[in-house]
Amino acid sequence: MTTPAAVLVDAAAYAVAVETATKAAAAYYATGESALDDDAYDRLARGIAAYEAAHPDEISADSPSGKVAGGAVVGDVPHTVPMLSLDNVFGGDEFTVWAASVERRIGRPVERWSVEPKLDGLAVAARYEEGRLARLITRGDGLAGEDVSHAIGMIMGLPDRLTEPVTLEVRGEVLMTTDQFEQANTLRTSHGGTPFANPRSAAAGSVRAKDRPYQVEMTFFAYAALPISDTGADLAASLAALPHGEVLTYVAGLGVHTTAGTTVPPRTVTDAEAVRVRVEEIAALRAELPFGIDGIVIKADAAADQLAAGSGSRAPRWAIAWKLPAVEKVTRLLDVEWNVGRTGTIAPRAVLEPVEIDGSTVAYATLHNPNDITRRDLRIGDHVMVYKAGDIIPRVEAPVAHLRTGDEKAIVFPEVCPQCGSEIDTSEQRWRCVRGRNCHVVASISYAAGRDQFDIEGLGATRVVQLVDSGLIADIGDLFTLTREQILGLDRMGETSTDNLLAAIERAKGQPLSRVLAALGVRGTGRSMSRRIARHFASMELLCAADEAAMQRVDGIGVEKAPTIVAELAELAGLVEKLRAAGVNMIEPGATPPSDDPAASEDGEVAAPGGPLDGMTVVVTGAMTGPLEKLSRNQVNELIERAGGKSSSSVSKRTSLLVAGENAGSKREKAEQLGTRIASPDEFAELIAELLDDSDSAADGADGAGGDSAAAAGR
Ligand code: IVH
Repeated sequence: MTTPAAVLVDAAAYAVAVETATKAAAAYYATGESALDDDAYDRLARGIAAYEAAHPDEISADSPSGKVAGGAVVGDVPHTVPMLSLDNVFGGDEFTVWAASVERRIGRPVERWSVEPKLDGLAVAARYEEGRLARLITRGDGLAGEDVSHAIGMIMGLPDRLTEPVTLEVRGEVLMTTDQFEQANTLRTSHGGTPFANPRSAAAGSVRAKDRPYQVEMTFFAYAALPISDTGADLAASLAALPHGEVLTYVAGLGVHTTAGTTVPPRTVTDAEAVRVRVEEIAALRAELPFGIDGIVIKADAAADQLAAGSGSRAPRWAIAWKLPAVEKVTRLLDVEWNVGRTGTIAPRAVLEPVEIDGSTVAYATLHNPNDITRRDLRIGDHVMVYKAGDIIPRVEAPVAHLRTGDEKAIVFPEVCPQCGSEIDTSEQRWRCVRGRNCHVVASISYAAGRDQFDIEGLGATRVVQLVDSGLIADIGDLFTLTREQILGLDRMGETSTDNLLAAIERAKGQPLSRVLAALGVRGTGRSMSRRIARHFASMELLCAADEAAMQRVDGIGVEKAPTIVAELAELAGLVEKLRAAGVNMIEPGATPPSDDPAASEDGEVAAPGGPLDGMTVVVTGAMTGPLEKLSRNQVNELIERAGGKSSSSVSKRTSLLVAGENAGSKREKAEQLGTRIASPDEFAELIAELLDDSDSAADGADGAGGDSAAAAGR
């Protein structure tokens, strides 16, 4: 879909447009943040170009047209060869017109097109001397960039040493994957900083930051390589003669990261129609990618075609960026809601004028914490930039201050807990009701009863409200001492439903420690972390006795998380005791308690040695069928771990098996590329048949999952 160009009616409108675009480009290249979203910038830039075409004698010297980085200048290290930008097309028809113009220019059909994702990050040139990474330079204005060698070591995919002692420059994009972005934000906010607005500005800011007290991880993707002055003549000649696709294969062979290992590797195709098909494929995979792309780059693959087409001062004539719809949009902030979570945290949420981003309508976005609202000086009625891509929860980036009318209103912070009226503990960044998890008991009990925790069928939110309102329960512990008479006394509770509920509660007592832990809702842990903790400690007793050092021996718990978890468990001690007294299982079946020796204790984490998936890393994707059909993803992951395997959510070289159900998308493609073993849900069910029998019996009302002597010992 092509976005229309802005219409500039006169010289005054042109002057304003040039100033707005220049400021936005300068801000974008300095910090990665800008008051204009990509669509708006593109519309403005095309409006400026159209005005200039109609009024060639009025062109301003400040105009961004034809300049790399819209004329924003940064850096003083000259580039060996200019780092050019790319011209854009916004759809298939524009692409066809462009491709025909290239073929007209070179006087023959383009031999092959290379099609690859346009990575949404920061362009850098990495200079390798005799195989060692010597210097890292940003693109700057294309002619000279900034030396950012201090960032070497923080960027995955740019090795310190290549596999061969060659001298060359690798060019590519530095960005943050979704995981790296989350980690960087956790680190940054724990140091009192404002969360990064989006992965691109997080990478741009982090590559250039020199004096941060913390280090964040980023990822490099190479898209080009070229000789530098002392590159040997042989290598220089062969690099110049290689088709683009083979250049990428060559740098990947040297150990530099490219998109080759992703679900959207570079592909070469022979005609414009095949380009369109491949563009559609990449666009369809965009939402699932673990990194941001803002388009697709199409390049004439053969060196001879590139040479014949040549380059302009801003962009090569043999390559084009096919832009995808922007993942950032400007909309209005209508209100801020304050929601109390099940652990008592009070989180602000932005209510937005609904806006379509990346194929879905966004009406709410996260606002992190009150401090963050203050730091950003957000006001009700503001125009705000909203970011949403793939799996990332929509977030408000920043107010667009120059669009303010003066009618914006201050955001009112709650003075008491919006749920229960108690005081608010504001000592930490995240505010919390002083009653903690006792504040929103309905939410915490409903969560605890959920399918992946205690799995108490018949205990939905309405019933929990009834039980809480009638004073029968005040926490999850009280559930386990409810009597038949008490339940029968409730409205709309007959004998059968009462007995069913009591039976479900009785079954819940046998759930493994991992689920009891998940039900407690320990802050800083989710379902998979609860499983890891339970496997590591094997019993609630050992877990509750663990200090911070012992906690850090669990895979995935570091210095930041350990103190929170230890403090949370101390806060929960009374509730744990209540559960134990009521007969709830406190043991993880099949797990071995850690020994005192920290090195040996690692063994405690090895799941069910001798199980059918012993030592395997298993990823599950797509819809499960056959014997696995009724299981939640969490339940399938539990089975994997009980069978001795490790469950993981993404396919990598370390994945031993992919269980691919119906509609398995990019994970299956990636596994195929890597040659990973793939099993259907039925084949997998057969592999773990012995355990499936167990879990059936759990569902039928026997002991908890795995219901062995270890579980019984915990009663
Ligand atoms: S090729 C001479 N390939 O997009 C060729 N650029 O908007 C120039 N980019 O400056 C670049 N992914 O920073 C190329 N696969 C890719 C890319 C890519 C992202 C960036 C690059 C470029 C900008 C232009």
